[in-house]
Amino acid sequence: MPTPLTTPMDTPADSAQKTLFVHNRSVQNARVAAAVEELERDWIVARVDALDARTPAVPSRARWVEELEGLLAGEREGTATARYLAEEATHAQFRYVVREFALDGLTEAQNFFPAVPRLPLKAQMAVMRVLIDEFGCGNLRQAHSKLYLDLLAELGLPQEPEDFLDTTSDETYAFLNSFYWLTQRAPHTEYFLGALAYLEASIPHAFRTQARACERLGIAHDRYYTEHLHIDTFHMKEMQIAIREYEDARGLDPSKLWTGALLMSDLIGTAFDTAVERAREAV
Ligand SMILES: [Fe+2]
Ligand SMILES: [Fe+2]
Repeated sequence: MPTPLTTPMDTPADSAQKTLFVHNRSVQNARVAAAVEELERDWIVARVDALDARTPAVPSRARWVEELEGLLAGEREGTATARYLAEEATHAQFRYVVREFALDGLTEAQNFFPAVPRLPLKAQMAVMRVLIDEFGCGNLRQAHSKLYLDLLAELGLPQEPEDFLDTTSDETYAFLNSFYWLTQRAPHTEYFLGALAYLEASIPHAFRTQARACERLGIAHDRYYTEHLHIDTFHMKEMQIAIREYEDARGLDPSKLWTGALLMSDLIGTAFDTAVERAREAV
């Protein structure tokens, strides 16, 4: 269990997403669990219901793979925010974006674990192979959170998750909070499988932006990004294996995979765009 993030909770200044994040990382007593469910009901539960209602049904696993590839192909065309960060952002603006995603880097993959016992055994193995890599195969120097710590240190940023609670935007908190729901409280595990399959498949292209920015700005500790360009090409395959094994063991609703992917694409895309836009305004 990760060290719970403790902060004076429910102060009026805290947003719902920040409060939810702190609750998600606290001991889940009855009070916390009830508050989490209430905060999620009007946000992610409603959002997933709306996505399910308006998204055309995906009839097979093969069609899901095609739909995902189509989504990724569109995203590979790039956005103005990605182009700006890669080619024009100043060192201070890039540092702002690194700070914005620090809570993600420093808690990376921790919130995936509760999905494991909800999966059939062979699907568990594929997800565990992903998780083992995320934690550097038990080697601190390779752990993705350690690679982020190295980047934070070079940029003169703090090293503890608590240091970022007040600087993280609601858009980034929403991205982080989604996985706590997807793994623990979503009624169907396909939402999680689709969301993580999308994320692992999108990163080998998406992180080229940050890797290019590091190269251009002379930032030495770029390995957090370059490692993902490599390792997530394997993770995207492992997630498709997990989905295939899930189907073999229990049957599959591919429409729920697709809802998970669309949800995650929106959450991470919004968080990234917001971070770059705020960096441009702030510094
Ligand atoms: Fe990672
Ligand atoms: Fe990964």
